[in-house]
Amino acid sequence: MGRAAAAAAVGGAVAACAVATWLVGRRVRRRRRWGRAAAALRELEGGAATSTARLRQVVDAMAVEMHAGLASDGGSKLKMLLTFVDSLPDGSEKGTFYGLDLGGTNFRVLRVELGETKSAIVDSRVETQPIPRVLLSGSNEVDFPLPIFLELFEFIARAVKAFVEKEGKGDSGDGPRRLGFTFSFPVHQKSVSSGILIKWSKGFAVEGTVGGDVARFLEEAMLKVGLDMKVSALVNDTVGTLALSHYHDEDTVAAVIIGTGTNACYVERTDAIIKCQGLLTSSGGMVVNIEWGNFWSSHLPRTPYDVELDEESPNKNDQGFEKMISGMYLGEIVRRVLWRMSQEAGLFGDAPVPLLATPFSLRTPMVAEMHEDGSPDLREVARVLEEGLQIRGVPLKTRRLVVRVCDVVSRRAARLAAAGIVGILKKIGRDGSGGFAGGRMKGKPRRSVVAIEGGLYVGYGMFREYLDEAVSEILGEEMAQSVVLRVTEDGSGVGAALLASTLVR
Ligand code: BGC
Repeated sequence: MGRAAAAAAVGGAVAACAVATWLVGRRVRRRRRWGRAAAALRELEGGAATSTARLRQVVDAMAVEMHAGLASDGGSKLKMLLTFVDSLPDGSEKGTFYGLDLGGTNFRVLRVELGETKSAIVDSRVETQPIPRVLLSGSNEVDFPLPIFLELFEFIARAVKAFVEKEGKGDSGDGPRRLGFTFSFPVHQKSVSSGILIKWSKGFAVEGTVGGDVARFLEEAMLKVGLDMKVSALVNDTVGTLALSHYHDEDTVAAVIIGTGTNACYVERTDAIIKCQGLLTSSGGMVVNIEWGNFWSSHLPRTPYDVELDEESPNKNDQGFEKMISGMYLGEIVRRVLWRMSQEAGLFGDAPVPLLATPFSLRTPMVAEMHEDGSPDLREVARVLEEGLQIRGVPLKTRRLVVRVCDVVSRRAARLAAAGIVGILKKIGRDGSGGFAGGRMKGKPRRSVVAIEGGLYVGYGMFREYLDEAVSEILGEEMAQSVVLRVTEDGSGVGAALLASTLVR
């Protein structure tokens, strides 16, 4: 062999060796990165664990906090707001009533016609309209002639007027038309037809509204646009849902919303509402809006992702339960986990993933789509990552890990919501434990219907399954038979119109 050939051979061997070393190095790096991602997943699973025992602690804490919130204003993070709804529709209502549902980026106007026969909603018409974003989260940066909240209410009043005119129907008898106004934010009520806004939630903030009576704002706006309509009932969406479910099934004792935000209400005995001594109602009960989104307990399985999300939110230390459960936040929690995995473990390789770094870029419906991907090669996961977050070419193994993250976050949310529901049942002595007094109940348990509405429960099958399963797990199979989780449709709006009718009986 000539010298040149020998040198070439040595050179080739060195190059081959370098390539092999690089390949081995790459494999080692990948394995290490994967190890870090797997460790982050294990840490998440540990932090978000919801054993039955843990859920039972949450149940007890919910019941205790409800009790404290009923004892005094400020006695708990649970506001336990009185609604002054003391009788619920039962099917004997008649006439034409309107509903207005404001609680998210859309609002809905509807008309309900109640017939002669019991349980007959003869006709109902719903119209959904988006609210310009600037009216819901803005201050007066854009040049509006009026303060922004007046603009908002006038915008809505005009839409209600157009709806009424299009429908061309008369009123519900003599005098102004009757409206049930569903306003899905916490309000302090002194009567069923008025309420002072305590705070906004779900990312909304409209300057000038907190501390004001939202029913009056609306009535004044309706007067201004020339619409003869009166707010007969101002209700939370949970209360509307309870009303509609009760209209169809009188065993309804509570209602829960799990959508963009989350909350629950239930029927309480007036003598248990200690903070309002001497409260008298003909039924002996009143619907209480728990505002459970603000529930907090040290038993909640909180992870560093939840802590960071809260710290960076505009309503820090507020709505802690909602931030672990509702549609506004689940996607954001998953995004934070994936972002950390991409930074610390190179989950998506070395290419930058700018969208993943953007808060709220991963929305909860995307989490549901990935979580429920039944295809063997997780095609939907690949599509969502590509179309939604511009992350391309993600290997199957990584896609599987993404699904695991979605599962951990959504499962925790569903199970916590289940614990909240059982907490309410416990507070009213319907969980089979004998309530606060303790001691097992004797005899067949009474049937309890809990109405549920909201995209997470209604439109996300895995979430619903996890929630249903956890309710049975906590209550035990036998007791769970007496608890019916009943999906209502359009309850928040139709229920408010029904309540408007109940109040004019
Ligand atoms: C609000 C509640 C509402 C719930 C569901 C929460 O953010 O505070 O009043 O019922 O969302 O819409």
